[in-house]
Amino acid sequence: MNLRDTILVTGGAGFIGSNFVLQWIERVGTPVVNLDLLTYAGNPANLDSVKDDARHLLVRGDICDAELIGSLLREHRPRAIVHFAAESHVDRSIVAPDAFIRTNVQGTFNLLEQAKLYWATLEERDKKAFRFLHVSTDEVYGTLGAGDPAFCETTPYAPNSPYAASKAASDHLARAYHHTWRMPVLTTNCSNNYGPFQFPEKLIPLMILNALEGKPLPVYGDGGNVRDWLFVEDHCSAIRAALERGRVGETYNIGGNSERKNIDVVSTICDLVDEMSPDSAAGPRRRLISFVQDRPGHDRRYAINASKIADELGWSPLERFESGLRKTVRWYLDHRAWTENVRSGAYLDWMERNYAERLAL
Ligand code: NAD
Ligand code: DAU
Repeated sequence: MNLRDTILVTGGAGFIGSNFVLQWIERVGTPVVNLDLLTYAGNPANLDSVKDDARHLLVRGDICDAELIGSLLREHRPRAIVHFAAESHVDRSIVAPDAFIRTNVQGTFNLLEQAKLYWATLEERDKKAFRFLHVSTDEVYGTLGAGDPAFCETTPYAPNSPYAASKAASDHLARAYHHTWRMPVLTTNCSNNYGPFQFPEKLIPLMILNALEGKPLPVYGDGGNVRDWLFVEDHCSAIRAALERGRVGETYNIGGNSERKNIDVVSTICDLVDEMSPDSAAGPRRRLISFVQDRPGHDRRYAINASKIADELGWSPLERFESGLRKTVRWYLDHRAWTENVRSGAYLDWMERNYAERLAL
């Protein structure tokens, strides 16, 4: 391994992290050390195509483990850390917030602290070149009304869920490590991602799989909540742009310029599944849509103003929502073994816990 070219990725067996690792190996081609605890959301099968590739090393471990992080940094001497590892599902943070504080706050703190110790040992030139890229979310900004301008980098933080609050805390820590010690930290705040390998607890894959299987499609509240959807490969290319060309100490908002109401997303998924996997006996999948009890504190609307990353780094999304959603439905139809594999006993327990009462309304 050429040590100076190595990057350390955390959470690279999850949805966005695994897409990032695969894109990195294909387009950049330098070595990746991938540290992932392999929680319910982490899946080595996402990385099957690089499992025998000498440029990729998957290490099972916890970002809260200071000794492990320190030894990985000393051994592999990465030129950058790209930090995805997190608890990421808002509904789970409402049911059981503890793991969110542990991983998102304590874990990010630990990683920053170990990175600082490592960074301090580097020669001046390497110190300057080093990057810590903290991957975060638009949810730290809270919620928008229908006519409000989209979130920009100076929008005040107002996180509403335990998940969003834990990510906001981690963003503040990342900022403080730059401000206090001049560590070369950058933060990206992205809108809702969708695409291959997304764990089917999140809206889009859940609806695709339920539609295929003729199960109810549980839309929270009135279905009028709006999200700004971004195809995952576009998020990964934005992170690469921030890593290579972003200014240290800055934050960059990343979005898809694709605001959609949940009910419209779910209806489009129904139509795509009808088209790609017709079930003429049972009738159109839209019949399965079922309005259920709302998420407590449910943010009404997210929208991202991505003009800073466009103007400074020349990044903009390549995929349109309609074509990206079509590709995503196709991917889930073509990867039934993957979905069967991730829907284990723990997944079924979560489905029961989150939806039994909601659907009983
Ligand atoms: P995910 O839940 O699919 O994956 C998270 C990964 O982190 C998993 O592989 C899991 O095993 C790993 N992990 C969890 N706890 C860990 C720990 N203590 N130590 C090491 N690894 C651990 O999440 P995702 O959707 O891929 O999101 C990745 C990152 O991007 C998160 O930081 C999230 O906040 C952020 N983000 C997500 C979205 C989105 O729409 N999914 C949008 C913006 C930002
Ligand atoms: O905005 C970025 C965030 O997007 C990321 O930081 C989070 O990690 C990611 O999970 C996502 O959060 P959301 O809460 O927006 O995503 P989710 O897929 O859970 O829900 C999308 C919308 O769909 C939201 O308004 C809630 C609604 N929903 C969700 C589920 C799971 C339903 O109506 N029914 C459902 O069953």
